[in-house]
Amino acid sequence: MKKKILIAITLILFLTNQGIHSFCFDSLNATFKIKPLPYAYNALEPYIDKETMVLHHDKHYQAYVDKLNIAIEKYPQFSKSTLEDLLKNLDSLPEEIALTVKNNAGGAYNHGFFFDIMSNENSSPSGKLLKSINSTFGDLDTFKNEFKKSSLNVFGSGWTWLISDPNGKLSIINTSNQDSPITLNLTPIIGLDLWEHAYYLKYQNKRNEYIDNWFNVINWNKASENYSSVDQ
Ligand SMILES: [Fe+2]
Repeated sequence: MKKKILIAITLILFLTNQGIHSFCFDSLNATFKIKPLPYAYNALEPYIDKETMVLHHDKHYQAYVDKLNIAIEKYPQFSKSTLEDLLKNLDSLPEEIALTVKNNAGGAYNHGFFFDIMSNENSSPSGKLLKSINSTFGDLDTFKNEFKKSSLNVFGSGWTWLISDPNGKLSIINTSNQDSPITLNLTPIIGLDLWEHAYYLKYQNKRNEYIDNWFNVINWNKASENYSSVDQ
């Protein structure tokens, strides 16, 4: 009899603990969530492999979002903020969480942006964006060369971006770690993740091949939308 009671108590404790655990890590109720991948994990092959996409989207991207949610848990005043709000107002964050939020809101925003700016549907720049690329860089090939040159200059982990300033002026910039153009009041048009987790499984140390191949999966229609969002 005693043994049965002991088993019952153990079972109740186990189930209760599971319930608490599920509650604490309930991503459905989390303030920030990852965006679903807008295409299949293998859609970008052969340029970006399925295994990399699964890890990158489901693990790395999720980890930034999870760490951000944990950081702001104690500060309910940020529960209604967007990632953009946080990244544009880093100076107003409590010191205790400022760096964590900068890194993880940046990671969350940059990755949400990155997966959206890729597609397996062939596209090329058009309209106003193409016109600005041509007037700024000369032509599309020169832009690609400049972008690649900039990407190869990223030391360690970071990103290369084509950005627009508030007047519609395009330029190429690099950011370190998970720093985001949003913080600089710049609008990202396209952005390339140069952290090793983005390419190492397939490309190892050949970052230049990753960059060359990435040009094949840019969603230029989305890039045009991004550029159209700039008030000019
Ligand atoms: Fe990444």
